[in-house]
Amino acid sequence: MEKPKNRVFSGVQPTGNLHLGNYLGAIRNFVGLQETHECIYCVVDLHAITVWQDPKELAANTREVAAAYIAAGIDPDKHIIFNQSKVSAHAELAWILNCVARIGWLNRMTQFKDKAGKDREQASVGLYAYPVLMAADILAYRATHVPVGEDQKQHLELARDVAQKFNNDFNVPDFFPQPEPLIMGPATRVMSLRDGTKKMSKSDPSDYSRITLRDDADAIALKIRKAQTDPDPLPETVGGLEGRAGASNLVSIYAALSGLTQADVLKEFGGKQFGVFKPALAELAVAKLSPITSEMKRMMESDQGYIDTVLANGAERAQAIAGPVNKRVREIVGFI
Ligand code: TYM
Repeated sequence: MEKPKNRVFSGVQPTGNLHLGNYLGAIRNFVGLQETHECIYCVVDLHAITVWQDPKELAANTREVAAAYIAAGIDPDKHIIFNQSKVSAHAELAWILNCVARIGWLNRMTQFKDKAGKDREQASVGLYAYPVLMAADILAYRATHVPVGEDQKQHLELARDVAQKFNNDFNVPDFFPQPEPLIMGPATRVMSLRDGTKKMSKSDPSDYSRITLRDDADAIALKIRKAQTDPDPLPETVGGLEGRAGASNLVSIYAALSGLTQADVLKEFGGKQFGVFKPALAELAVAKLSPITSEMKRMMESDQGYIDTVLANGAERAQAIAGPVNKRVREIVGFI
């Protein structure tokens, strides 16, 4: 089988509340890779159901993530956009890889511990096996590069371990490539606007903790105005942000949205109060996000047919890549 050289795979869960962290840590980087890589971007609905999803909302959220991909600038004619459950290779390969991965490896996954919380006995088996499905997503395409935010690093290390163990166990050196994580830009870990020591997340109960891709200009400005900071002016250097989580987060967001480094942002705003910086950040965020959010809204309100066509067409093309890999895996494992 021919080995791909520059094949990117990544995914976003359709669990609602797509936020600035998903955009800056992942989706925006997906867009930039289109020039140099063959890209496959998935809406991971199988992952979403590892925690309860209302079926109607799941369908709407699946379309919304696809709309976000398209509105952000991913070209569905040149690259693949599809939803995971349409290509059966993901679930099939996940089962095989469940038999390769070790319980000890999964026990170390910090995201499971965070998501399952105290009542681990009540978490779904799917939530526990989640990282193996993620490995299957990537390996079904023998993808070489995986752009993600910082929080997915541990899952990618597991995917690399699973690939290697499969290759060793079945004596097929190099069959699965070692996927490289691409953790890019100044906002690989966007923090909550209410607490700069916590990750911005879809599941935070406070709506003020995150800017979502459904927010209008007023909501964005209000959330930035209310963002947690401290009374001091901004420092002149990046070193001066240490111990100032809220300030550091806002400077990183400004840097990521503007394409500047944090040092450049502080050259401009060092010594200034948040009363000056926050309105500038709000203006920048609105300018950068509103073309995307308004296009998403337009598609969701009046062009769902187009989204569904993109997903169906993407699934066919994804199947054409994953199908033969899956067939080969079946032979390697000894299924007749
Ligand atoms: P998900 O849906 O939680 O998040 C989608 C992407 O957004 C990134 N991200 C962040 N980046 C910066 N700051 C944040 N606060 C922030 N929050 C989320 C995530 O790192 C991710 O890149 N398991 C994945 C989905 C997945 C996947 C895959 C990814 C399934 N299969 C295969 C890559 C390859 C997830 O839960 O993403």
